[in-house]
Amino acid sequence: MPYLLGLDISTTGAKALIIDESGKVIASHTTPQPISTPKPQWSEQNPSDWWNGIAESIRAALSQSGIGGDAIAAIGLTGQMHGLVLLDSAGNVLRPSILWNDQRTQEQCDAMTEKIGFKRLIQLTGNRALTGFTAPKILWVRQHEPDVYAKVAHILLPKDYIRFMLTGEYAMDVSDASGTSLLDVANRRWSNEVVDALEIPASWLPRVCEGPDITGGISEKAASETGLKAGTPVMGGGGDQAAGAVGVGAVKPGIVSLVVGTSGVVFAPLDKYAYEPDGRLHAFCHAVPGMWHFMGVMLSAAGSLQWFHDTLGHGESFDELLRPAAEIPPGSDGLLFLPYLTGERTPHPDPLARGAFVGLTVRHTRAHMARAVLEGVSFGLKDGFKLIANAGLPDDLEVRVSGGGAKSLLWKQILADVLGATLVSTNSTEGAAYGAALLAAVGAGVYPTVVTACAQTIQTSDAVTPSDQRAAYEKPYRLYENLYPALKATFAEI
Ligand code: XUL
Repeated sequence: MPYLLGLDISTTGAKALIIDESGKVIASHTTPQPISTPKPQWSEQNPSDWWNGIAESIRAALSQSGIGGDAIAAIGLTGQMHGLVLLDSAGNVLRPSILWNDQRTQEQCDAMTEKIGFKRLIQLTGNRALTGFTAPKILWVRQHEPDVYAKVAHILLPKDYIRFMLTGEYAMDVSDASGTSLLDVANRRWSNEVVDALEIPASWLPRVCEGPDITGGISEKAASETGLKAGTPVMGGGGDQAAGAVGVGAVKPGIVSLVVGTSGVVFAPLDKYAYEPDGRLHAFCHAVPGMWHFMGVMLSAAGSLQWFHDTLGHGESFDELLRPAAEIPPGSDGLLFLPYLTGERTPHPDPLARGAFVGLTVRHTRAHMARAVLEGVSFGLKDGFKLIANAGLPDDLEVRVSGGGAKSLLWKQILADVLGATLVSTNSTEGAAYGAALLAAVGAGVYPTVVTACAQTIQTSDAVTPSDQRAAYEKPYRLYENLYPALKATFAEI
């Protein structure tokens, strides 16, 4: 039986996941990853830590599974998006990778926008210039580290550095490349217009490919370091959001993936390219050939609840903290929470936005505050849904929910009521690594298409439908919507 290996370089860990051809998980191992914040707003990791971590995870997963490296038919890659990896002409790493959550590049974003034009940039790349994206980081290095810049010969994203270490090939799939601000997202190729305008040498860019495409084979050196067999094919894979969507089967219009993790992501597949004219949503290529997707990213979703738990939870478990919140009526008796604890991306691209409780009275308890957090995050996610709906989404939606926040039935019910949609869970809980393994399976011919792979391996269950409390959220949501515009200037001044 052929086995498939999915590799995920996330910000917190390097994960290796082995599945069999029916989609059953055989083994999984994650090696934690250090992160450094050398200055406020900076966020960096060393690509050598990713490589050592993933090699360790591959060896551990192979040994856990009891199969040999020669039983792996194909390998799929995924990882944190947007991170800039700079290599010299010999393939040596030139500086630590500047990550997706690094905020140092506002000046470069402004310069890019001015040079290309706000509307034109969004039309071409599907997105505004955002501090987390890759292109402004290249401009930052040019401006601040000219000695490093002078040696650059190759630009890669985190998972593509792992591809390079596994195969010696320079390649990047189009879903991940969409987060660079350099891709012509409609045509799934580098945008000469943007690359030229930014004066970035086109020779630095790797070739682009689709998620299931074969990009190379495991080298002898990588085989000896990982236990894999030399020559095993490595497929394109996808950015963590696109691969995660494959991992829950969000591979056709109408099936929306909602991830309530530290961040909150609404991911809606599209069968043709579209973009939101103000760039308040991301428009990216999907890891499914011939598909695109809209995406709204809230920066602190379950992260808001985590903060509440850590600061006001008095050591209680999440269950204990949320139990009394279930007794509080929808709308939390007039208490509203703004979840912008780490700034925001969707629908307000504003690194200076702040969190807030608004409407506190002496009658409010900690249970009200807990419920207000769940409701505020749900309202923020509704903002993302509304933007996607306005840009074009089928009426008949299936929302597949995953992430730590989806473990709370109370939160799922609030979300179903606020969004006015049925929420279902999926059997696969291995996230992006699972999607990467499925993309590898398609490339290896185990399944003819990504849609078939998902249909045969992913089942849904535990449907939560909107309740008769749905209408009770209309007024609180209206009030919530008015708060950010009212407080924006204050947040900036703070
Ligand atoms: C996507 C994004 C994050 C990172 C890290 O746009 O910024 O999902 O990929 O997980």
